[in-house]
Amino acid sequence: MKIISIVGARPQFIKAAPVSKALRTKHNELLIHTGQHYDENMSKVFFEELKIPRPDYNLEVGSGSHGKMTGMMLEKLEEIYLKEKPDFVLVYGDTNSTLAGALAASKLLIPVIHVEAGLRSFNKTMPEEQNRILTDHISELLLVPTKDAEKNLTNEGITDSVYNIGDVMYDAVLDFKEIARKKSDLLKKLDIKGDYILTTIHRAENTNDINRLKNIVEALNECGSTVILPIHPRTKKYILEYGLSFNDNIKLIDPVGYIEMLELEMNANKIVSDSGGIQKEAYFMGKPCITMRDETEWVETVEVGWNLIVGTDKEKIKTAIKEFAPNSDRPEIFGDGKAAEKILNIIESYSKER
Ligand code: UD1
Ligand code: UDP
Repeated sequence: MKIISIVGARPQFIKAAPVSKALRTKHNELLIHTGQHYDENMSKVFFEELKIPRPDYNLEVGSGSHGKMTGMMLEKLEEIYLKEKPDFVLVYGDTNSTLAGALAASKLLIPVIHVEAGLRSFNKTMPEEQNRILTDHISELLLVPTKDAEKNLTNEGITDSVYNIGDVMYDAVLDFKEIARKKSDLLKKLDIKGDYILTTIHRAENTNDINRLKNIVEALNECGSTVILPIHPRTKKYILEYGLSFNDNIKLIDPVGYIEMLELEMNANKIVSDSGGIQKEAYFMGKPCITMRDETEWVETVEVGWNLIVGTDKEKIKTAIKEFAPNSDRPEIFGDGKAAEKILNIIESYSKER
């Protein structure tokens, strides 16, 4: 079988690591990197550390408006699909690369496999929500990570070929956690010895709104804890543009590779973020997660008490950093860490039945 997988943004490289490994045990997988993320520490570092196969094609689309980025990807992907004639196209998550990969394939009647299908924030102003809804509705095989995601698809009338496989990011954490524990020494390099909060910020709704970003920066400045903040290039750009600044308790660093990120997560006291992937990783690591958004797709983490949604209210963020302390169990809401193997098996049986 020939499967083309599409990646383009940081979390997709991480998701592809276990899945490409599994697919390549039996099939011909081609990897296309759209070039949506391109800085070394947003792209190359993940391919090296996670031993992700070198992309067969790099579209080098780079940054731009949504329409421009998606349009450029569509044009280039169509050409490659026509040349390579894959049996399936596999896409991950909810980025512009996801939608372009799925749409170009769907128009050519190539079946699309959507990994991380069914998630909803029910906030259609988010580019990710638009990307996910559209991708789900043109995919043939929908691989959902949670029960709630399956319910969301049922509510939209999508019930055929939906499989709950758990979360591939859990596979990745299980594959690389020990390596991070043994080999990563970022905390030593940063000279951090005591307690700290790990923070990331990159969501458009937070970076593109001066009031929301200002509240977040002020809450972190005033929280009374050491904060390690590997800063996304989007956020760095807006911090400079808005003239915001960080106090000395904030350790501002460039984006880090996955192994160093796992080290930072597993040793943090709490994680404060607006990332999707990091909410899940906090849960896998047993770290309290404070989410600086108005809603989440990962509702189960909130329901079981390990994730607190605080929006960008300065006082709520500060109080949560001081006081949030989950004391409940962490049930297996993201499967058993064998999602990649399940993807391989499901694609094989689906392909036989078609
Ligand atoms: C994208 C995804 C988002 C995902 C995130 C993961 C969409 C609509 N958004 O958001 O769902 O959570 O990736 O990190 O697809 N930039 C650089 N260097 C890079 C990459 C980006 O400087 O290597 C800067 C550019 O100024 C760019 C901005 O970051 O305009 C935003 O990049 P973009 O890929 O459009 O969106 P993300 O915020 O990264
Ligand atoms: N990540 C990383 N280095 C960083 C920040 C994040 O390796 O400096 C990893 C993080 O551990 C997770 C993924 O990137 O696996 C999450 O990506 P991001 O927050 O950019 O996107 P989202 O998950 O919100 O789409």
